[in-house]
Amino acid sequence: MDTFPKAEARARALRQELAHHNHRYYVLDAPEISDSQYDKLMRELQGLEEQYPQLVTPDSPTQRVGGAAVEDFGQVVHTTQMLSLANIFDDAGLTEFDERIRKLTGLSQVGYVCEPKLDGLAISLRFEDGRFVQGATRGDGTTGEDVTGNLRTIKSLPLELFPQDGVKVPRRLEVRGEVFIRKEDFRKLNEKREEAGEALFANPRNAAAGSLRQLDPRETAARPLSVYLYECVPGDGVPAFKTHTEKLEYLRTLTLPINRYQHADGADGVRQRYDESLKGRHALPFEVDGMVVKVDDEDLRRRLGQVSKSPRWAVAYKFPPEEESTTVEDIGIQVGRTGALTPVAHLKPVKVGGVTVSRATLHNEDELRRKNVRKGDTVFVRRAGDVIPEIVSVVLSKRPEDSQPFTFPTHCPVCGAVAAKDEDGAIIRCTGASCPAQLVEKVRHFASRIAMDIEGLGDKLAMQLVTSGQVKTFADLFALTRDSLLKLERMGEKSADNLLASIEGSKATTQRRFLYSLGIRHVGDSTARALAEAFPDVKSLFTASLEDISRVKDVGPVMAQVIHTFFQEPQNQAAIQALLDAGVHPAPPAVATGGPFVGKTVVLTGTMERLAREQAKEEIERRGGKVSGSVSRKTDFVVAGEDAGTKLKKAQELGVRILDEQAFLKLLEGDARA
Ligand code: IVH
Repeated sequence: MDTFPKAEARARALRQELAHHNHRYYVLDAPEISDSQYDKLMRELQGLEEQYPQLVTPDSPTQRVGGAAVEDFGQVVHTTQMLSLANIFDDAGLTEFDERIRKLTGLSQVGYVCEPKLDGLAISLRFEDGRFVQGATRGDGTTGEDVTGNLRTIKSLPLELFPQDGVKVPRRLEVRGEVFIRKEDFRKLNEKREEAGEALFANPRNAAAGSLRQLDPRETAARPLSVYLYECVPGDGVPAFKTHTEKLEYLRTLTLPINRYQHADGADGVRQRYDESLKGRHALPFEVDGMVVKVDDEDLRRRLGQVSKSPRWAVAYKFPPEEESTTVEDIGIQVGRTGALTPVAHLKPVKVGGVTVSRATLHNEDELRRKNVRKGDTVFVRRAGDVIPEIVSVVLSKRPEDSQPFTFPTHCPVCGAVAAKDEDGAIIRCTGASCPAQLVEKVRHFASRIAMDIEGLGDKLAMQLVTSGQVKTFADLFALTRDSLLKLERMGEKSADNLLASIEGSKATTQRRFLYSLGIRHVGDSTARALAEAFPDVKSLFTASLEDISRVKDVGPVMAQVIHTFFQEPQNQAAIQALLDAGVHPAPPAVATGGPFVGKTVVLTGTMERLAREQAKEEIERRGGKVSGSVSRKTDFVVAGEDAGTKLKKAQELGVRILDEQAFLKLLEGDARA
């Protein structure tokens, strides 16, 4: 047993080390150690804190999982008002903004800083002696809500500052910034919600707002929030800055997450930046709704002051919205794998931001009512989060006279069973235990690329197999014969043989894929991976306790309950046993401890001949690497297949190591830790 002073010193060292690696991973996107090495440090700290509970502080990295729930958020009065920005929409607005500043200051040219205008929620954070002590929403600008507990769960936010370059920790620091969700994280979050049969978020902004205002911080911890800071209030021990640039760079040395920004000389410089950002907006990993233009010189800013609630020294130059109008040809109901009935608007195809949109989800009954969409309506559609197009509004003046409100079905349109509201009241679900629509979706999911990867088993075939009665459970797939397949409409001998071969091939799978393919509510690919690591043998899940399951990485209490119930259910146990009896063999995950991919960030681009994108990703992850969607200075390798485009170019510009398919395969083979 360690003595207390020794444990205390070690805990402090571990916190600093963990803060450093956290910053490398979440802010710089350049990890120096593998996830498992990080987990080891974390476990050591947890061990010390268990031994000496007095070592547990609210800003310990062990506390990011979320503290106790609150009944209500407390109020926080901001020490200085949180301002908002005036908007401009066109070049004339910019000219006016710049002219006013030049007139007021008597300067012939003003130096500006341009920042992406993040579409999230403004927050204010207080640090005392380098520790994060309080965070609040903007509220009305004077008083906001205390969301400290929720902000602590944001991984890119340091809970304790360990400045670089010998900079001193300020006694009191108050910084302002934006909480948001990255596009990729948003996609995954919605995917998870779909898995769980929960209502989808319409866009990253709504998802971020909803997540930050959860009363239970453990819920917030499960949401992938990010934060960037962009302003700082004068404070005890905070230097007086000459420029905004200096301020941002100071915040950066304190290890706070700072977004990209650019300088611009005068209105002409800003014009150029605006055109560039407008073109580049889709390539950014987060949603932006404009560009913020700020006077760089802090002294000028003080002289310019503010009018009502907006500063004169800054403005939000908005991007034109990506909206188009079209008509609703019909409203249909989709039945998902978990039985959720989702209303979908079928639209007259229209191009929005370069993509043709012909369907828009209406999420659920409440949303449908709120938006008041009807068949025949003229509507505005917007592409949100680059993923699901949504209906923004209805042009009521153009509504046909004979239009009727949509009546939500009381029964499943596919199997006729009663449709009932969920516990949380948002989703209406088909209650039919043997609803073919659900079974079709389950089979399609089971066979999908990142599940069992049965090539050739898509939507149509899944439907045929279910409706012909050949497939009632997953195991039935493995009993299919050439003769039975040939009875299906439009099934040729060649296709039947190919399908059988691909079913046969799918038997040699991994535990991760297998667990994912079962289609358990809440269990997406990343949870399946964590579960597979904790339970390499599927049957060990039959006897696992709720506590055992709760201990798995990223598995929250609700998820643990669903997973536990699933594996306790005799029908599910029998279905899994039947799959194993049919020869399905899920291999346990291998643990990587060394090799060329450990702790490395890899970007895949272009098409590879021998490996599908998902397979390549799996191989890299199995070897302790991480696959990222965009190239930065922090990328270790870019694997470029055929027709690689901008990512390859960027890698060349940045001097990132580039591998072609052959070199990549060689590296994989040389490290055959499979
Ligand atoms: S500066 C006084 N910079 O836009 C300046 N705001 O009304 C205060 N926003 O409430 C804001 N990106 O939530 C600033 N780079 C950025 C921003 C930004 C997004 C938000 C912020 C603010 C709103 C404007």
